[in-house]
Amino acid sequence: MVSMASSLCNLLIFCLVLQAMTAAASVAGAEELQQEKDRVKDLPGQPAVEFRHYAGYVKLRPQDEKALFYWFFEAQGGVPEKPLVLWLNGGPGCSSIAYGAAQELGPFLVRSNGTQLVLNDFSWNKVANILFLEAPVGVGFSYTNKSTDLLKLGDRITAEDSHAFLVQWFKRFPSFKSHDFYITGESYAGHYVPQLAELIYERNRKSTKDSYINLKGFMIGNAVINDQTDEMGLIEFAWSHAIISDQLYHGIIKECDFIKDNPTNLCINHVKGLLEAYSDIDMYSIYTPVCLSSSKETYRKLVTAPRLFTQHDLWHQLPSGYDPCTEDYAEKYFNREDVQKALHANVTKLPYPYTLCRKGKKIRWRYLLIWRTLKHLLDSCGTFEGELSNIYSTVEPLTESFHSAFPSVN
Ligand SMILES: *[C@@H]1O[C@H](CO)[C@@H](O)[C@H](O)[C@H]1NC(C)=O
Ligand SMILES: *[C@@H]1O[C@H](CO)[C@@H](O)[C@H](O)[C@H]1NC(C)=O
Ligand SMILES: *[C@@H]1O[C@H](CO)[C@@H](O)[C@H](O)[C@H]1NC(C)=O
Repeated sequence: MVSMASSLCNLLIFCLVLQAMTAAASVAGAEELQQEKDRVKDLPGQPAVEFRHYAGYVKLRPQDEKALFYWFFEAQGGVPEKPLVLWLNGGPGCSSIAYGAAQELGPFLVRSNGTQLVLNDFSWNKVANILFLEAPVGVGFSYTNKSTDLLKLGDRITAEDSHAFLVQWFKRFPSFKSHDFYITGESYAGHYVPQLAELIYERNRKSTKDSYINLKGFMIGNAVINDQTDEMGLIEFAWSHAIISDQLYHGIIKECDFIKDNPTNLCINHVKGLLEAYSDIDMYSIYTPVCLSSSKETYRKLVTAPRLFTQHDLWHQLPSGYDPCTEDYAEKYFNREDVQKALHANVTKLPYPYTLCRKGKKIRWRYLLIWRTLKHLLDSCGTFEGELSNIYSTVEPLTESFHSAFPSVN
């Protein structure tokens, strides 16, 4: 009997920075004037709201040609008292704006096939000022004028560039410098978040008041932490939810060595079998329908119900409580020229379309091990809190997080 509810382990790590931050009295410079220019006023399809939001580019350093794109939402009320939270999506290569802001925790969710924004009842800006960042360069609207930069991407560069972004961003938004600052993210941000936290922690020790960041903690959900254990978790999840057979499961366990990087042909074939088993299942949400609209306009739901129900037109119109096509809407929305103009995005007319995740041969990635970073942060400043939440997910599921969080249990 397979349990319907799978849980997922969220790692919450709070890192207290003891040093108190005194708000730097700032001279209104060019950066502060830019703040008002970044204010988003006529976003197509947006409902009227009381809070302000801003979007635009931050050039990282005078000597390079990199600019990172952000979208920042002030809190719904109590802006001065509420913390500042940075949100990062994973990939690597996926956009925090197209996912985090427009489909997950931002105040506006893209609906109606990229024509409307609706208010999100669960927006995090009810409790915090939320900053979404597209990083590194090459992701979403973030860009570089030097194409060779795209060959040098990786965890280290992403942390360095995100740090440089924050230092500049606080110059543009000096009133947020004294706020408690938290870094949050999911999936591959299991790398980004601790790595950025560690870099801030180290830089803060040597920093001037000007570049000090008031970091209070970080939080990672369904985080990618360690490939070997993550792979094991993914396979166990598929097996325990009857997505793959006992035979295939035991085949993988027998043939695949999760430590070595060179899998045997038998292992490769078994893994292919696992992926094929998922071909009509949403890996991120195994109990909900998949998006069929790209091929068919009408039957949007994955209809597996008996004909007794499905012969009725009404069956197909019933709300399913979850729209599996939101990725398509977001991609359409952010490719609209009027939307880009309102968000001050794509000002240099990038020669490729906006995509939710940037992939391809032109982007190479250098990974760093994350365990050492987590341990370093915990040893130097931390308290750790773990939490369980219900998510029907295959990618980074509970088993995966469990293996990662407790590697010695293996
Ligand atoms: C990239 O080049 C364009 C066109 O010359 C220029 O306007 C823009 O400021 C440059 N961006 C960066 C980040 O250097
Ligand atoms: C969205 O619009 C496109 C055409 O612009 C169409 O091909 C697609 O099926 C539509 N999707 C939905 C979910 O209505
Ligand atoms: C940027 O704008 C150009 C010209 O309008 C467009 O062709 C391109 O798809 C856009 N790219 C992105 C990443 O928004």
